Amino acid sequence: MPQDFATRTDAVVAHSLDVIVSSQHESGAFPAALNYAVYDYCWFRDGSFIADSISRFGRIDNANRFHQWCAAIIDSRSTQITDLTRRGLSGEPIPGDEMLPTRYTLTGANGTEDWWDYQLDGYGTWLWALNEHLQRHKLSPEPYRAAIDLMVGYLAAFGDHPCFDWWEEHQNQRHISTLAAISGGLGAAAAMTSGLASDTAAAASMRLSDLALTSTAATGHLTKWIGTDAVDGSLIAASVPFGLVKPGDTTAEATYDKIITTIVNEGVYRYRGDTFYGGGEWINLTAWLGWYEVSTGRIDLAEKRRAWITEHATPSGDLPEQVSTRMQHPSRLEEWQHRWGPVATPLLWSHAMFLTLNNAIKNAQGQQ
Ligand code: BGC
Repeated sequence: MPQDFATRTDAVVAHSLDVIVSSQHESGAFPAALNYAVYDYCWFRDGSFIADSISRFGRIDNANRFHQWCAAIIDSRSTQITDLTRRGLSGEPIPGDEMLPTRYTLTGANGTEDWWDYQLDGYGTWLWALNEHLQRHKLSPEPYRAAIDLMVGYLAAFGDHPCFDWWEEHQNQRHISTLAAISGGLGAAAAMTSGLASDTAAAASMRLSDLALTSTAATGHLTKWIGTDAVDGSLIAASVPFGLVKPGDTTAEATYDKIITTIVNEGVYRYRGDTFYGGGEWINLTAWLGWYEVSTGRIDLAEKRRAWITEHATPSGDLPEQVSTRMQHPSRLEEWQHRWGPVATPLLWSHAMFLTLNNAIKNAQGQQ
């Protein structure tokens, strides 16, 4: 790598850490983006990956504060969650708008605007990120016990129900990335608990993982949802970090190949046919692909993904949500600009996945 490029990479890494840490709200929440009103909320999905990225950098206190914020949200809704879980287990159909929302205000209240709100993956991702953080820094799960138990019950009851996906779309489908996040989260919960709670979490994790793997029957690869042959960029997470399929195994590689041939240019598209802001290439997914590549020994490819991301940082080092140079549907850009403003920049999730990729590359190269 030429020296000036290495310096630029280091500058974007330092800036990424700074953007994340300096925008953490005093409550512990992370806004999804800065300067972008619609994302001035904290998503469990984005926030958990953000907290995970800085936990890897030894920012223990910042990550603790995020996890405490999540646990407080869950604890303060224990009556609602217990009641929902009971009704779900009895087979009662429950409208999505009665379920937990996907995002909260930075002070932990439910939002008041309409949103595509019934999504389950973020709660699974939170359990996963919490366990990683606690194990990494040898911390006790005790302060989180009540929140973990509530989430195990909730996710075990609803994990196989259709809900909106990572991209807040297709609420009637059962999405493989969502199932992977829930199954991975329940597996993490099994490790953080003991006795019956741990057994319940482990059994539910296994059941949901078996369900997700039924999606491979027709094609040999993971699919966007059960019953399609299309893929989605978020499927990489089913392998790294959620471990639904082991990086490098036949199914993971078939999924990787299909992603490379259908939704990768230099960066990664969310899925074929995406029209959001014209459907550009996403920074977080490109980092994700690189993360998978590191875990399967393709370090040179991972470095290429990192270089592409660095090239698309603004001069000050901010990373956007998506890059609009090779959109799938350029005619759809303007309507979103008009509706919500320019592409969200900086997007904290982009910065987080860039940090995680960089960390994985450095670890693989033995530089840390
Ligand atoms: C994406 C979500 C994300 C949210 C906040 C939405 O446009 O589809 O995946 O959680 O933005 O970053």
